[in-house]
Amino acid sequence: MKGIILHGGHGTRLRPLTHTGPKQLLPIANKPMSEYCIESIRETGITDIAIIIGGLGSNKVKEYYGNGEKFGINITYIEQDEPKGIAHAINLCKNFINNEKFLVFLGDNIIQRSISDFVENFQKSNFDATLLLCEVDNPSSFGIADVENKKITKITEKPKKPKSNLAVTGIYLLTPKIFSIIENLKPSWRNELEITDALDILLNQNDNLSFEIITDYWKDTGTPHDIIHANGEIIKNIPEYFYGKKHENSKISGKVLSGKNSVIDQNVTIQGPVIIGENCKINSGVIIGPNTSIGNNSIINQGNIENSIIMENCEIDSISKIRDSIISNNSKIIQSDKSTDEKIFLLGEGTKIYL
Ligand code: G1P
Repeated sequence: MKGIILHGGHGTRLRPLTHTGPKQLLPIANKPMSEYCIESIRETGITDIAIIIGGLGSNKVKEYYGNGEKFGINITYIEQDEPKGIAHAINLCKNFINNEKFLVFLGDNIIQRSISDFVENFQKSNFDATLLLCEVDNPSSFGIADVENKKITKITEKPKKPKSNLAVTGIYLLTPKIFSIIENLKPSWRNELEITDALDILLNQNDNLSFEIITDYWKDTGTPHDIIHANGEIIKNIPEYFYGKKHENSKISGKVLSGKNSVIDQNVTIQGPVIIGENCKINSGVIIGPNTSIGNNSIINQGNIENSIIMENCEIDSISKIRDSIISNNSKIIQSDKSTDEKIFLLGEGTKIYL
């Protein structure tokens, strides 16, 4: 079997974070979120993977993953000129797939469970497709599968009046039968070729689709809130390690992971789950956590940071508490010496500040 990872799109709901690169490279627990899909796919034994790139900063994807060797896979890059939908992206891989069964993984989907058993069952089966479904609270934001008597009866993209709360996750097991359907597909109201429309046609053709329901953690990381949530969940799942140095007078509780050469000073309080990268400096009096990550080479001079993602090479010096925030690489928050209400800003396009 072969694999396809969708790594394009404009990530509009994540601006300004996505002005400088694709959302799938945003870090979750200090690692690009799409690296988790690569790990999931590699674990199934699939090593030939096409990555569909397109949109802003797609060269960064090639720079990071290269030919895949470092990640134990072979990567073929396929460009999608415009975000014309998941089905359109899949169709670009027709030659790459040739005549094999394949797995499609949306690069912004995070799943905590192994998918190896699903892939193995699909490989042995005669199904035209296997979908992974997951219960959600907001079904009108997803592709939804109606299920009756253990069979999928209808698949609808973002239904206004959903009949079920079973979201079609962005992990699809498919056969080349899908290609001829996509070729005749009409764009949806959002002007995309929807994979859900193609799957609904496939269902009506042969009634030969199976599904699995995921009860473990799964998230489509479309918004900053989703990313921050996934960050906390992923940290909880990483095996314990601590390569940094901590002062004996620092108070550390819960799961706290630290990379090499990071120093935690005295009177620092850290409440896990927290991940600290390499070469970080957490100075005296700082409070961090829970659900927070600090990227490599970042310095926290002063601050109380909760439920947030601070990326690499950042400097934080703030008397105000920072919570529910995402702070991109090379950012600085500097506390003015004067106790005044005046603030100084140097902000990129689309920045959001809540004062
Ligand atoms: C896409 C699919 C949708 C699916 C979701 C899963 O939605 O169109 O069917 O449920 O991914 O992540 P989008 O992220 O494009 O809104």
